[in-house]
Amino acid sequence: MKFYNQRESWKSRIGFISAALGSAVGLGSIWRFPYVVGQNGGGAFILLYVIFLILIGFPILVSEIVIGRTAQSSPYGSFRILGRNKIWANFGKLSIFTGFIISSFYSVIAGWMLGYLIEAIFNNLHFTSSIDALNHFHNLSSNPFWSVGFHFIFMMLSILILFFGVRKGIEAKSKIMMPLLFLVLLILVIKGISMPNSFKGIKFLFSFNFKQITPAGILIALGQAFFTLSLGQGTMITYGSYLSRKEDIVRSCFPVVLLNTIIAILMGVAIFTIVFSNNLQPQAGPALIFETLPIVFSNMKFGTFVGILFFTLASLAALTSEISALEPIISYLIDEKGFSRKKASIFSGSLAFLIGIPSALAFGLFKNYKIFGENFFDIISFLSVNILVPIGGLLAVLLVGYRWGMKEAFDNMKVDEKDLFHHKSLLKKYFYFSIKFISPILIVLIILNLIGIF
Ligand code: PFF
Repeated sequence: MKFYNQRESWKSRIGFISAALGSAVGLGSIWRFPYVVGQNGGGAFILLYVIFLILIGFPILVSEIVIGRTAQSSPYGSFRILGRNKIWANFGKLSIFTGFIISSFYSVIAGWMLGYLIEAIFNNLHFTSSIDALNHFHNLSSNPFWSVGFHFIFMMLSILILFFGVRKGIEAKSKIMMPLLFLVLLILVIKGISMPNSFKGIKFLFSFNFKQITPAGILIALGQAFFTLSLGQGTMITYGSYLSRKEDIVRSCFPVVLLNTIIAILMGVAIFTIVFSNNLQPQAGPALIFETLPIVFSNMKFGTFVGILFFTLASLAALTSEISALEPIISYLIDEKGFSRKKASIFSGSLAFLIGIPSALAFGLFKNYKIFGENFFDIISFLSVNILVPIGGLLAVLLVGYRWGMKEAFDNMKVDEKDLFHHKSLLKKYFYFSIKFISPILIVLIILNLIGIF
């Protein structure tokens, strides 16, 4: 059996937490979370989302980290070592593929954020009506030079960070970017709360109206819990493989889930206080950031500055997530194919850029190329986020729960006697039930629902 000894590693627990949090907090928290909350009834949706984080999000995150940490290998090597046969090894390859595909179109939306940052800097985001704002967005996103151009620039930035490796690249940059992101977020929250009628936004976020929860909303909350923790795509397995064997995994992962949730909710506070104090609707959907917010920025004091802050925050968050989606394939190329880190970073980033081009063109040049009535971007994002990611998560819990073994997994978590809950056996039961039963059952239900069987 091949074990990998000279593996790169995180310098400290804080380093791991920053990197994993950097992966978790991204477009999912900044762009998607507020609009799905807006469309699905506010507070009740948030409560549901938090319940799913506890029921399956946290246990699957811990499972993926313990898989990677024990095997000290890429997702492929990890599944091969712990699964002990070729089939499991191929499941590991599948999760690497998922992360890689996600990185290709994630960079397109992230490129839009970067493009809007430039728009904000050049003071181009002044609109008097929704139509103006929407037209501006359509003009930009359908312009091939703009969309492919920013997709390219964003990918270059990601490659640059990955180039420097685990400690000097991912860890060092996350340690700078995450506090910066938090600072910008706090400024936005304070600005939002101090606006007139901001309490309406707070009320919207924290009032639990269960009548607004639909079966579709339940699935969206579940999917969001998955996506936000970067599960099912090899990322957390790879980040776990760089974690020192001494670290208590539960203690290392808990702050990631907690801070990620706090950040997403604060983001909701910032956006909805601003939206409600301007008498705009919360249900704008994906356009919330590109249509609703620029109108708000046009009408408020220091709006240009707030706009610059906002799109800086979004770009930073997306960058630390993008690199985490590419890292699984990079670690695979280094471990299995003997690539140097530099070569692996350039190769993976360039390939992801090329594969992302049709997604970048899906809103303009390729607008009319549709399969089943959907454009390329919609199809590839649906397949990967809604189908491949749950499958990846399912495979991770099945590996831990039924192939490798719960006892070994729990021993390898190195849970401190004085663990977070001061109750090791309770923690053990919680993971046991989630990993063996709740998670696989819920994931199978999601998948059956998505393919229309249930
Ligand atoms: N967790 C990220 C977000 O919420 O935006 C998304 C993400 C990152 C997905 C990394 C996949 C991935 F590999």
